[in-house]
Amino acid sequence: MASAYKIIDHAYDVVVVGAGGAGLRATLGMGMAGLKTACVTKVFPTRSHTVAAQGGIGAALGNMGPDDWRWHMFDTVKGSDWLGDQDAIEYMCRSAIPAVVELEHFGVPFSRTEEGKIYQRPFGGHTTEYGDGPMAKRACAAADRTGHAILHTLYQQCLKHKAEFFVEYFALDLIMDEEGACRGVMAWNLDDGTIHRFRAHMVVLATGGYGRAYFSCTSAHTCTGDGNAMVLRAGLPLQDMEFVQFHPTGIYSAGCLITEGARGEGGYLTNSAGERFMERYAPHAKDLASRDVVSRAMTIEVREGRGVGKENDHILLHLEHLDPSVLAERLPGISETAKIFAGVEVTKEPIPVLPTVHYNMGGVPTNYHGEVLRPTKDNPDGVCPGLMAIGEAACVSVHGANRLGTNSLIDLVVFGRAAAHRAAELVRPGTPHKPLSDNAGDEALARLDRVRNAKGDSPTARIRLKMQRTMQNNCAVFRSGDVLEEGCRLIDEVHSQMGDLSVTDRSMVWNSDLVEALELDNLVSQSLATLYSGAARTESRGAHAREDYPERDDENWMKHSLAWVDGKGGVRLGYRDVHMFTLSNEVSVFPPKKRVY
Ligand code: FUM
Repeated sequence: MASAYKIIDHAYDVVVVGAGGAGLRATLGMGMAGLKTACVTKVFPTRSHTVAAQGGIGAALGNMGPDDWRWHMFDTVKGSDWLGDQDAIEYMCRSAIPAVVELEHFGVPFSRTEEGKIYQRPFGGHTTEYGDGPMAKRACAAADRTGHAILHTLYQQCLKHKAEFFVEYFALDLIMDEEGACRGVMAWNLDDGTIHRFRAHMVVLATGGYGRAYFSCTSAHTCTGDGNAMVLRAGLPLQDMEFVQFHPTGIYSAGCLITEGARGEGGYLTNSAGERFMERYAPHAKDLASRDVVSRAMTIEVREGRGVGKENDHILLHLEHLDPSVLAERLPGISETAKIFAGVEVTKEPIPVLPTVHYNMGGVPTNYHGEVLRPTKDNPDGVCPGLMAIGEAACVSVHGANRLGTNSLIDLVVFGRAAAHRAAELVRPGTPHKPLSDNAGDEALARLDRVRNAKGDSPTARIRLKMQRTMQNNCAVFRSGDVLEEGCRLIDEVHSQMGDLSVTDRSMVWNSDLVEALELDNLVSQSLATLYSGAARTESRGAHAREDYPERDDENWMKHSLAWVDGKGGVRLGYRDVHMFTLSNEVSVFPPKKRVY
């Protein structure tokens, strides 16, 4: 097979796949550690989805009121509904402070307080005094374009440190050896159609989430979880895939994100009676309760007939009472988005909103160094040599069953940095590569060739729509056994329909038909993992709200789900324990308790 495609070989110490916040922070750190590093990315780095992150990056700087990284840790554990690993959460919340200061020194143009400190706003689920005090101001913001500011700064830093980028290269598959170690990655240069074999002592997947498995999401069209699917094809599991976050305020019908920072600045939600209904669901935090709580409350309001609009099917977000200068200075991006996508002038009228898929808590299981786990019965925390995952692609797990707003951006930079530190310990710069087997990369090319020459009757768009409708209808804010089981059946049909795929363009240069078909193939395997993991978990926890099992069941379910998906679409499930321990004695484990806001 390899002979049908001319292969261009490369050798690096490290290859990072993906150039969002996590990929760039890792690339930068690897370069700083003297490791010869390539960053392979299917989009130009500053077009990565991190650019869309709005409201802030979480760190207990305490610039605008009392704060403590332990309070941040408590909020994150509680937000995760006790599915997050407490060692990793401690690591993230403690490291958040120097990580944000480092970003400031790199040049991120944060908004400022009167005294010139980094501006911080309240966000959902961020509290003081372990939930007993007032809401914390912890979201470090660059207006409402925080991700944009971070992404551009990290890219500039990478250029300064002479990082090598392979831009518009689509990663096809990992190269695994006989012992199960990762030895590199195969990629297709979209621009000239060439195939590239990157050898590396460490491959770092920073390929983002798979929001596009759903019909309506805030994620970019590029968010197809390509790294997650490569991991499944390498015979490794994904973790906690049933936990899919719905952001409360996607613009009705368009799906674009309106930052939670809007509520942090004083915005609030109302139903058709004009009632601020969050006061009933979360008397203390109200509109700033955790995202899963707000999304469920909105869904209940709509279901019970209190939605607004002609179809009574959405909710209103009010900002028109805010000082126009606050909107102009702190929320300029969403003011523009609301105008373009909802035709709303935010100084005068409310924005129509609906919970919209936003983030995948699940992904590639890793430890807090970014090393990918290959869990076995005897060693649930064993690692896969040569492979790391970071950012939304990874499940460290710091977000557990529900992520707090701003903890995504901090996850990207903290674990991007951690991966670089770990790689510097494991890889000596310039170490020669062991020979690869003659057929290394053949399987990746066989898959490419199969999809490229698919001669069935079902175009990518038709199969994708069926997958997206299934995920939207059968794996939503509320789930039940019947609905999830129907979802498993429907997604099995989608998987079978992939055998009837039709790709009409067989060229290799900028063949978007082929890219979309490969991305769809990636999305289908992750959808299988999501639905099957969800159907098996008979409890409610975080974003997984089962109507037939409304309570959290710590006795049976305080454990991570693992899902292996084989080439025939078969799903095998397993489980691993949640880490209920900390890394230091500066903080104690937070034992499970009822989650109220
Ligand atoms: O609402 C937002 O600005 C989103 C932030 C996040 O997902 O962390």
